[in-house]
Amino acid sequence: MRLPTILTSAALAGAALGGAAAAEGNAKNGEAIYDRYCAACHGAEATGEGPMQAVLTVPPTDLTALSAGNDGVFPTGRVVKRIDGRDPLVAHGSPMPVYGDFFEGDDASLKTESGQPIVTSTPVRDLIAYLEGLQVR
Ligand code: HEC
Repeated sequence: MRLPTILTSAALAGAALGGAAAAEGNAKNGEAIYDRYCAACHGAEATGEGPMQAVLTVPPTDLTALSAGNDGVFPTGRVVKRIDGRDPLVAHGSPMPVYGDFFEGDDASLKTESGQPIVTSTPVRDLIAYLEGLQVR
């Protein structure tokens, strides 16, 4: 169990060594994770039109419009919590799978849109970097 407010020494060391690039995540790696674990529902273009769409009772979200739906600001905090399952909405019956345990691994911190740091794992941070680059503003 990881507490969001605790920055591990690994995350701090990573930030010190890698600088801004490390904190921003690797979008290329994020794309590979997306294609493998998210595209089935959210679609290859992330617009919500994956092959699994037909069997879902709730349509998958268009992940290219996250910023557009949030006054032009990418909702980093919300998206991290949706993916790692900290968002209680997910725990209560959303068809969206909870990847918390699956994406456990190296802790990584990133900044939310309000400037607050949030701790998650490296795969989630990379996914965020990829998704952020897909936004139609
Ligand atoms: C089994 C199908 C399925 C898979 C696989 C899936 N999702 Fe989803 N996702 C959904 C559905 C359905 C919704 C809309 C309902 C909801 O918000 O709970 C959703 C919602 C979301 C949201 C919420 C958007 C918002 O407005 O807050 C995010 C972010 C998201 N998915 C990201 C991902 C990522 C990243 C992956 C891969 C790691 C992924 N999803 C894999 C079905 C899926």
